[in-house]
Formats: sequence, C-alpha cells, structure tokens
Amino acid sequence: MSSFNIQSILRENIKNLTPYSSARHEFKGKASVFLDANENAYGSPLDKDFNRYPDPLQISVKEAISKIKGVPVANTFLGNGSDEAIDILIRAFCNPGHDNILILPPTYGMYEVAAAINDVEVKRVNLNSEYQLDLDKIAENIDEHTRIIFVCSPNNPTGNSIYREDIETLLANFNGLVVVDEAYINYSRQKSFIQELTEYGNLVVLQTLSKAWGLAGLRVGIAFASEEIIEVFNKIKPPYNINQSSQELALKGLQQVDTVNKWILETTLERDRLIEKLAVLPFVERIYPSDANFILVKTQDGHSVYNYLAEREIIVRDRSKVSLCEGCLRITIGTPAENDLLIETLNNYK
Ligand SMILES: Cc1ncc(COP(=O)(O)O)c(C=O)c1O
Repeated sequence: MSSFNIQSILRENIKNLTPYSSARHEFKGKASVFLDANENAYGSPLDKDFNRYPDPLQISVKEAISKIKGVPVANTFLGNGSDEAIDILIRAFCNPGHDNILILPPTYGMYEVAAAINDVEVKRVNLNSEYQLDLDKIAENIDEHTRIIFVCSPNNPTGNSIYREDIETLLANFNGLVVVDEAYINYSRQKSFIQELTEYGNLVVLQTLSKAWGLAGLRVGIAFASEEIIEVFNKIKPPYNINQSSQELALKGLQQVDTVNKWILETTLERDRLIEKLAVLPFVERIYPSDANFILVKTQDGHSVYNYLAEREIIVRDRSKVSLCEGCLRITIGTPAENDLLIETLNNYK
C-alpha cells in the first residue's frame, strides 16, 4: 500500500464535522416498537412498509455487490447515482476558491459541473490524439492545490479505455486522489481497477447500476475505496441517500447476473455489427474503438446528421462542437431492431 495520507488533503471542516446521527443509525439492536424516528406508525398508503426510513448504510445491497465484485462492504459506498459520489468527493477534499481538480477532456461532463457548483477550480489537460493521457502535460498542470484527478475509463464520450500503466503512473506519483470512473467497465476488454484498491490508498473506483445493470432509474452508483475514504463519504452523505424502493429493487436486480451478462454479450456483438455497417457509409470518416455501450462516430457534418436523425425520431448525442470530437456523434448501442432502424435510416442520408 502506498504511503498516501488522506488526512493531508481532507478539508478541515470535514475533519471536524460531527455528522448527523439518525434514529436508524443510533439503534442497532432488536426491537418490536419503533417510536424513535417520528415515522407514521399507522402505515403507508401503499402496500409496502414505506412508512419506515430505510437502512442508512444499505448493508444488504452492499453485501450483494460484495458477493459479485469481491470488494468488502467496508470499502463500498452507495450514492444516489455515481454523480452523488463525484459531488461528495469534491466537497470533502477541495476547499472552494482555493483547491482544484484536474480533468482530461473530452470526458464526462459532471466532474466539471460538480466542481463549478462547489466553486472549485477545474484544470483541463486534453487527451492526446489517440484519446490517451498526456502524462507530461498532466505533471506540468498539477500544483500544490490539486486534490483530485478524474480519469474516465472507458471514457465517455470517446469510448476507449485509458492505458492501465498510465493510470498506475498517476496513482503512484500523484499526492491526491485518482478517481477512476468505470461506469462502462462491464463492456470493456480491460479489467477493473478494483483489484488495485489494496495497493493504492489514493484510488477511488466509481461504478454504477445505471449502465450494464439496466437500473438507471433507481439511481444507485458505487464508489470503492479505502475504509478511510469510505468513512468520509458516509460522514457527508445525506442520512438516507438511497430510498427504500431503490434498495429493494437494486437487491432484486443484483440477483439477475445471468440476464445482465447476456445483455453485455449481446451489446458488444451489436457494437461490432454497428461499427461494421456504419464504417462503410460515405459521410462517416472514422469510428473510434469502443470498450463501452456506445460508439463515437466522426462524420463530415455531425450536426446535419444529428438533425436528420432527430427528424426521424432517432436521438443520438451530438458531440460535434466538443473539442477533439469535431463532427462526432455519440451513438448508444440499442436493441438489434433499433440498430437496424438506425443503419437503414443512415443508409438513406444524402
Ligand atoms: C462516465 C460516467 N460516469 C458517471 C455517470 C453517471 O452515472 P449515474 O447514473 O450512476 O449517476 C455517467 C452517466 O452517463 C457516465 O457516463
């Protein structure tokens, strides 16, 4: 384990914070009458016991995730989407108006938005022309106030995985947190960084039930990290950040590993088919290699293609104005029927 000390970058007010202690948190034993949380003892108007507050630490869901991922519950945080984990990391470790985060565009937009909401400066070091890390420029841009580097792998919107050795270089040399956002890891040929948690104390791995697990509507995101970092998450999060029905349904969903694995396989096969079919279209200049459930397609005029598809009720993501993605559309892999319709529609584009 590297010698990283999280106390050295944790904000003073968070270090000194006495977290809110909920009724469900304080009483852990067995009881039959609960008059401690000002709930409605008569029941809920629905056919379930929604009158009671949910488990603040979502232990059952974490145990189910632990069985699948092999990461202990104590190293797991659940957020209202991984977006909540991103926000908490910035709030815990970056002093507004003083510290900064480093992002690697083109990448997922929420790192920047969460920083802006928290009045935290954002340093940007573009990926290189292969959409990989520019380690020299990253080193040049890190200063004494840089607290977090966000690495998205597989990266959104480019779809590729970031070279493992480069992420390890950051982990070994950067004296702050390296957050590896693995929202799309289930579609990747690369292995997850969760195996490295015991090696690097400054590593946070983000995953989510929103993509391969097909549960975006439940809003359940995951952060894996050292116990010390997880304690920081738990100190800051709202007491009941994952609601009762999301916990119950997530638990049910997590039993369906076989179905999810079938979808992952089908999605990656459809990804290959879509790449093959779209690559031959005259207005398609390039399709980037993808380890995700979407592809980045460079066209001669991305905006026109976007409008043409939208007029036919097919919505893709127009990334044509994003720096290093000029002319590009990000297309999510759909069902075989949806992909057929997309291919047929684009075949008729003039
Ligand atoms: C790279 C990346 N990270 C995180 C998220 C957010 O996931 P969640 O639904 O868990 O908030 C997304 C969603 O699109 C994403 O693309």
